[in-house]
Amino acid sequence: MANRLPPDPLESKPALSGGALAGRFAAIGACVVLPALAFAYVGGWLDSDRLSAGKIVGALQNNGGVHPGFRRNHAKGVCVSGYFDSNGAAAQFSTAEVLASGRTPVVGRFAVPGGNPYAPDSSVPIRSMALRFTEANGQQWRTGMNAMPVFPVATPKAFYDLTVATGPDPATGKPDPARAKAFFMSHPETGPFLGWIKTAKPSASYATEGYSSLNAFYLVDSAGARHAVRWEMVPDAHDADGAVAPQGTDYLDSDLRTRIAQGPQRWHLIFTLADPGDPVDNATQVWPSGRHTVDAGTLVLDGTQAQDDGPCRDINYDPLVLPTGIEASDDPLLPARSAAYAISYKRRTAEETDAPGVTPALAH
Ligand code: HEM
Repeated sequence: MANRLPPDPLESKPALSGGALAGRFAAIGACVVLPALAFAYVGGWLDSDRLSAGKIVGALQNNGGVHPGFRRNHAKGVCVSGYFDSNGAAAQFSTAEVLASGRTPVVGRFAVPGGNPYAPDSSVPIRSMALRFTEANGQQWRTGMNAMPVFPVATPKAFYDLTVATGPDPATGKPDPARAKAFFMSHPETGPFLGWIKTAKPSASYATEGYSSLNAFYLVDSAGARHAVRWEMVPDAHDADGAVAPQGTDYLDSDLRTRIAQGPQRWHLIFTLADPGDPVDNATQVWPSGRHTVDAGTLVLDGTQAQDDGPCRDINYDPLVLPTGIEASDDPLLPARSAAYAISYKRRTAEETDAPGVTPALAH
């Protein structure tokens, strides 16, 4: 005899009338929506004052302008490519494949902070390096680093307030120094940054800068032990004594192309291990000198491409894309960065550039 399925107990029930069906959907809807609303309330999402990544990106756009197709921060940049030669020295602290002896391909990007892709290179004394390492096992390590010793603020809220305080005054359309001053006066954690920026000068080259993770992370070893670290890319190239950056618009890109045409540019990846008690959730505080450091190997960059069609264009250098063996710390900037970069990425990759006669290539 053919197998027969037992009768479906629901089938044997009388059909519901239209009104009863609507009532049932309403009840199901209430079950889904009410807990969601409660969750949103507890999470603060219904609070109109709540800080969101969208609000932060909005503030960045307000300062730098909207430049379709460009990143909402660090808009002016250039793609680079090369590889990382690990010497295996950090493998005792981390199981990440990229830190075992061997070579890992890298796609990177140098940039100037700020949302205006046409800003002069001399407009800020900070440059950035972003890297994506792709391990043979398919996992990736993405990192965005800045050439500075500390970050000005410790929290996403303070980052937002700083962005607003240094943005154009709605009344004049120009930044108001008094507002910026008031922000810094009410944020003593900006002290170490202010101490540094007082004498910082725009460099003449991306290649002579050291770039720091600023945020702390954990290296995780084969026994599962976590080691708090920050990392830095320390350049082999150095400015000649007394070298001064030209006053001008676009010297960084041509300098990099000239240098790479003459030979690969190199940096050493240096991990600094925290001592117990060093802050691992506060990017405004440097760790005292004398910490244990590990030179993990050499970053070699031997190619450069325009950012409008180069391989870095469609990469979101989200600092939370980490391979096994590297983990995020509790630094609150990290999830805020991840969320803000995603919004910026979504916006820019959905846009055509609208500047007539100007393509992102001219602002690389
Ligand atoms: C809450 C704090 C921060 C916010 C909201 C923020 C926001 C952003 C945004 C929206 C972008 C554009 C991303 C894209 O479209 O791909 C960006 C780029 C970047 N940020 Fe941040 N940032 C923050 C903190 C930091 C810190 C602490 C560092 C340094 C360690 C950093 C380094 C970079 C770098 C290197 C880039 C350029 C990445 C690239 O070349 O694609 N940012 N940031």
